[in-house]
This record gives sequence, structure tokens and C-alpha cells, in this order.
Amino acid sequence: MDTYLETERLTLRRFTAGDADLLIELDSDPAVMRYLSGGEATAPEIIRERHLPYIIAGYEKWDGDLGLFAAYERDGGAFIGWFCLRPKADGPRDEAELGYRLRQASWGVGYATEVSQGLLRKGFAELGVRMVWAETMTVNRGSRNVMEKLSMRLVDTIPTPPDMETIEGSEHGGVRYEITKEQWEQR
Ligand SMILES: CC(C)(COP(=O)(O)OP(=O)(O)OC[C@H]1O[C@@H](n2cnc3c(N)ncnc32)[C@H](O)[C@@H]1OP(=O)(O)O)[C@@H](O)C(=O)NCCC(=O)NCCS
Repeated sequence: MDTYLETERLTLRRFTAGDADLLIELDSDPAVMRYLSGGEATAPEIIRERHLPYIIAGYEKWDGDLGLFAAYERDGGAFIGWFCLRPKADGPRDEAELGYRLRQASWGVGYATEVSQGLLRKGFAELGVRMVWAETMTVNRGSRNVMEKLSMRLVDTIPTPPDMETIEGSEHGGVRYEITKEQWEQR
């Protein structure tokens, strides 16, 4: 396996062109997509033609160091979802977005916090990242709790994108959290 990161219970690897079904299945659960699309599944052709090619192109763009990665349980090998640590397409390489999307069966056991801690450590200590940010809907309490457990700081509120205005809680807008390398070292 092409391992990117190992934590106590999980291992991350790079996606390959044959992995579309993992992403299609993940994005087909309305609970997973609740604060992302209002519960609607992502169309399989969008995943095959846009999302997966962008993910794979990212490994080349960022030399395999940054990107979006598949997460598996080390004990049993179940696919649990994905995590990302990656710059904006046209942004500086030392500023990276943290993101996560897990299968419902894997919620509530600390996986998002565990892997995100590993990603922050890798980004700041090994990859030259200087700042990590994350954004979510104001009402996505689970996602915000992960950010807060990582000692990320709420730095801004953000408007709801026009295509998300029908999603439950969208009237409360979104939030942006950040942590710098210095803050991470002093946490
Ligand atoms: C958000 C998400 C990644 C959280 O993953 P997780 O592995 O369950 O998170 P953790 O177990 O590390 O939980 C971190 C903290 O948040 C709390 N938490 C998790 N989900 C919660 C929820 N829905 N509501 C309230 N608190 C929640 C946990 O209890 C924990 O706090 P604690 O240690 O004090 O008990 C997961 O629910 C998910 O993938 N959701 C769907 C996709 C999504 O919304 N992604 C984020 C988009 S920005």
C-alpha cells in the first residue's frame, strides 16, 4: 500500500484512478452530505470526470506531499472516508486546507481528530506548511468540534455560497478556522 500517513488506528494512502466507487458510495449517504449539498448525492460522472482526476493531478502538482487521501482502519482494513491537507489550486504551497469526510459508520470514535492531528504534525513539522485553515457551515457542530479540538482558532465568518442557500442552517453562514505553525508549536 502507498502509505502517506499512519496514526494509532488508521492509515492514509493516495487515491488511484480505480477508486471512483469508494467516493461515489461515500457521497451517496444523505447524512454525510447533509451540510455539503443538503443531502444530495454527488453524481457518479462528476466524481469520475472531475473530482477523482483533480485529486490525482494534485499528487503530481504537490509532489505527493499534499492532497486528498483515502483513510483505512489498520485493524481490518475498512475504508472509512477521506482527509485532505492541500493548498488552493492557485494558492501558496505553505497554506493548506484541512478537510474530512467520513462514512457514517465511522463517526463518533475520534477518527477525524486523530488523523487531523497527524496531518497538522506532518504539515508543520515535515512539509514546510506555515498555516492551515478549515471552513464549514456554522451549524456543522461535528466539524467545528474537530477544529476546536485541534486548537484551531475561529478567525472569520463567511457567507453561504449561492449554491448552498437551500441547505438546512445556511442562513447562519459559515465559519473559518486557522492555526499557524507557531500556534501549533505552542498549543
Ligand atoms: C464531521 C466529521 C468529520 C466528524 O468526524 P468524527 O470522527 O465523528 O469526529 P471525532 O470523533 O474526532 O469528534 C470530535 C469531537 O466532536 C464531537 N462530535 C462529532 N460529531 C458531532 C456531532 N455531529 N455533533 C456534535 N458533536 C460532534 C465529538 O464528540 C468529539 O468531541 P469529544 O471528544 O469532546 O467527545 C464526520 O461527522 C463527517 O464526516 N461528517 C460528514 C461530512 C462533513 O460534514 N464533513 C465536514 C465538512 S466541513
